[in-house]
Amino acid sequence: MSRKPIIAGNWKMNLLQSEAKDLFEGIKGFVKDYTAVELPTIVIAPVFTSLAAVETVKCDCGCGGNKINIAGQNCHWEKSGAYTGEVSVEMLADAGCSYVIIGHSERRQYFSETDEMINKKAKAILAGGLIPIICCGETLEQREAGVTDSWISGQIKAALEGISSEDVAKSVIAYEPIWAIGTGKTCDSDEANRVIAMIRSVVKEVAGAEAADAIRILYGGSVKPSTIEEQMSKSDIDGALIGGASLKADSFNEIIAKTMKLTLAAK
Ligand code: 13P
Repeated sequence: MSRKPIIAGNWKMNLLQSEAKDLFEGIKGFVKDYTAVELPTIVIAPVFTSLAAVETVKCDCGCGGNKINIAGQNCHWEKSGAYTGEVSVEMLADAGCSYVIIGHSERRQYFSETDEMINKKAKAILAGGLIPIICCGETLEQREAGVTDSWISGQIKAALEGISSEDVAKSVIAYEPIWAIGTGKTCDSDEANRVIAMIRSVVKEVAGAEAADAIRILYGGSVKPSTIEEQMSKSDIDGALIGGASLKADSFNEIIAKTMKLTLAAK
């Protein structure tokens, strides 16, 4: 089965509203020449205070798709209430989001997010009609200790616990080796592909072959315009979750353009 590629920009804690607006306009200016059918699924994840500075860009070719989708960088699993500093799925949807990044290693590391919390968030996101982008990945110590596969397999099983196969199929996973995030050290693409294929086999085990075939699994960690072609040429890598290189329209658009070229060439 052919899976539509996803190019997602995680803006992390960067950009004031005016800067977010400028970056958004730079991406919008690029996608105007293409239809949503030609483009990969494009997702941008600004900080909450800049959600109002961006918007979903719908395609006008009649395909019914979006050229740009918006994501939250985190959410709470409860609908509302006394959770100071948190934001609910319904609130994110209200602000125009159709995706939510969860379980990013920075949230796990600095805000003590657990697999159990990530599972609750995934369920709340899917119940709210949005799509979770579930992050996983190992530390350098874990890689060196040879426990990468068992660690990631545990993260994925815990995140997908109790979620229907149909919902798993719609979800997105991002494999982001922690040692490759923001370091300029990209994971070797054959190795990234091997881990992603392993994740797909775990999805098959917990949600069946159809869901494993449909779910889109991204690579993240120092993705740049110069690395994307090799990464996207691998059988199991369905796209990228990009930090640093998503903060400039030129580099993000170049990543989109290169992904599009490869997708068209594969047809
Ligand atoms: P970098 O692309 O800056 O390495 O960040 C990756 C990431 O954490 C995306 O979520």
